[in-house]
Order: sequence, then C-alpha cells, then structure tokens
Amino acid sequence: MKILLDTANLDDIRYFNTYFPIEGVTTNPTILSKEGGDVLAQLKAIRDIIGEDKELHVQVTETEFEKIIEEARLIVDYLGINTVVKIPATDVGLRVTKYLSDRGISVTVTAVLTAAQAMLASNAGASYVAPYISRSENLCADGVGTVADIAKIFEISGTDTKILAASFKTAKEVLDVAVVGCHSATIGSHIMKMLLSHTTTDTSIAGFVRDWEGAFGKTTLLKLLKEKNK
Ligand code: G3P
Repeated sequence: MKILLDTANLDDIRYFNTYFPIEGVTTNPTILSKEGGDVLAQLKAIRDIIGEDKELHVQVTETEFEKIIEEARLIVDYLGINTVVKIPATDVGLRVTKYLSDRGISVTVTAVLTAAQAMLASNAGASYVAPYISRSENLCADGVGTVADIAKIFEISGTDTKILAASFKTAKEVLDVAVVGCHSATIGSHIMKMLLSHTTTDTSIAGFVRDWEGAFGKTTLLKLLKEKNK
C-alpha cells in the first residue's frame, strides 16, 4: 500500500520526505489552517520539498461549479504536474470530477464515508477516492469494512480509480485498511511515526551496540574494511 503524508507542516514534510518512502503529500483547508500564514507560499514550499515527481493533493475551497473549475485549473497551473485536486463528495463535486477528469486533471474525491459515494466518484472519473476511517469509526460505522467494500466494487468494475484512505487515529487502522486491499493511505505525522517505532526494536539495537563494543571496542565494521583495503 502506498503511503502519503497528511500534513502541511514543512518541518514534518522535510523529515518524512527524507527518511520515509512517501509518495506525496495531501492537504485540506483544515490542515492548511493549522500552519497559517501565506497559503500559496506554503503550498509552493511543499512542492519544492517533495519535488515534481511526487503527488501534492490540494483541496478546492469554492463551492459553485464554475468557480471550482477555475480554482482547480489555477491550483494545477501553480503547483505543476503531479498535483491532484481534491473535490468533496457532493453533487457539484461529482459534476466537477467528471469535467476535470475528462480534461486530464486528476481528482481525489474526498470526505467519502460510504462505498456508494466511492462508486459514484469512480464512475465520474476520479483518480482517487478518500474514505475517512476514524471519522467513520467514531460514528460506530465500519470504516475499514467500507474500504473493503470499495476495494471489491473497484475490482469487479475494473475501474482505474484508487482508494486513498484518510483520517486515521491509530496505526492499526492503517494496517487494517492495507489488509483489505486499500491501494494507498494518507497518514498524519504522529501516526506515521507510530508505524515505525517499537520499543523492542530500540532495545534490540541497543543490545547490538553493547555486544559489539564489548567484543571490539569503538572500532566499526566500516573502519575494519577500510583498513583492510588500504
Ligand atoms: O485528509 C483529510 C483527512 O485525513 C481528515 O483527517 O484527522 O481530520 O479526520 P481527520
């Protein structure tokens, strides 16, 4: 399952883009509002950090068809290739999705809570649908099960639309959607760190250092190999 980073924080994006195998960055109005300041400069800075080969998903803020189209085009003009426009799952959103995808602009239909919404978004030509996992589970609905249903529907229909699961509150939710066939997931910084960290990994590494130094002192394998090659 491909992983994207769900934040607009530049320090976090620099860190995860350096160390983690992320495929891109996703934002929404709430995420951008947390950083404040010059939003256009912020988006350009994100593009500069991740480069033009990775995806940057940016959500529209307009609500009327013509204005969304104009906004979407300007977003793509401003941020270049591999920019994906996020459109909420509404009636206008479906019309916009069809219009933009017919003209070669990639769309993520976002704020998806049901498999029915995802099916409609796919039929409208969305590149991605973004089902919200924790927001669903917090309503006692089955967010992971919804992803499983979407995966099955997409497999049967043969659509090119991919699932980009979002809104995670636990690392386990990320694994759960991966197991049921989710294609990609966008994950906040905190959960991303949780996916990697484990106390037994840390104690294991500390044990390797302790045992090595006990036997060989401060020399390293690199030093030994370099000396041998002199
Ligand atoms: O990308 C938007 C989605 O991740 C929302 O997440 O945490 O606000 O439910 P959250």
